[in-house]
Amino acid sequence: MNWTKTLEETIAIAREAGAFIRKERQVFDLAKVELKGMNDMVSYVDKQAEQIIVDQLRKVLPEAGFITEEGTSTVRGEVYNWIIDPLDGTTNFIHDLPFYSVSIGLQKDDEIILGVVYEITRSECFYALKGHGAFCNETRIRVSGAEDLSTSLIATGFPYETGGFTDVYLAILKSLTESSHGFRRLGSAALDLCYVACGRVEGYFQHNLKPYDVAGGLIIVQEAGGVVSDFQGGSNYIFGGEMVATNGKIHSELLAQTKLMILDS
Ligand code: IPD
Ligand code: CA
Ligand code: CA
Repeated sequence: MNWTKTLEETIAIAREAGAFIRKERQVFDLAKVELKGMNDMVSYVDKQAEQIIVDQLRKVLPEAGFITEEGTSTVRGEVYNWIIDPLDGTTNFIHDLPFYSVSIGLQKDDEIILGVVYEITRSECFYALKGHGAFCNETRIRVSGAEDLSTSLIATGFPYETGGFTDVYLAILKSLTESSHGFRRLGSAALDLCYVACGRVEGYFQHNLKPYDVAGGLIIVQEAGGVVSDFQGGSNYIFGGEMVATNGKIHSELLAQTKLMILDS
């Protein structure tokens, strides 16, 4: 298999979907927003972007199946599955806040081997192929060299459903405010991961995630020299719903914070 060619084709598809989303943003009408659940919005833009991506990826790797947010295809592959979030950061998109992305990961058996995350408004394309490093627009990227939490900036996200964790979440944010450079809630999990990968933030954590929030970005962190885990420090981070991603150096310090959520559950 020529994975470099597959990566190039996937990048082109993410850019094409991103161009569609950018164009639709110019004429976007709030009346087109539908609710999937509490605060969980979607529109024709998410759905049509996913259709573009799935139609094209079918040609790239015909034997692969799909796990997608908007359910365009539910066919699973035996070995390969594309895991797709056509628009990660829908709330930002709807409010015209410039932080949203297209996220595509390719799973082979139990691991992600290829990831592409395209930040639409800045036109930054982050990508990685297992064993070949991580890049942003052709430039190699690496995680930050910060040694400890006290000199780190941490990204996080709040799920639409807090699952009863609001108080413990707020306690973690209070603790981070006092022990680090602070936290940011940017609004696209896929981009949070890419920002860890390129050293803009040192760490990211969230619970109640879906596989399509993290599949594209997690391999970009790993190939940039970072570490990803679940809240226990283990490897159940694609389907487990929890993610801690860091530059590696602050991983145990951030895990000590997220462990508060495990103790509370
Ligand atoms: C959301 C974003 C957000 C995260 C939410 C996700 P969506 O994805 O990644 O940053 O905090 O948990 O659901 O709905 O914009 O694709
Ligand atoms: Ca998402
Ligand atoms: Ca989405």
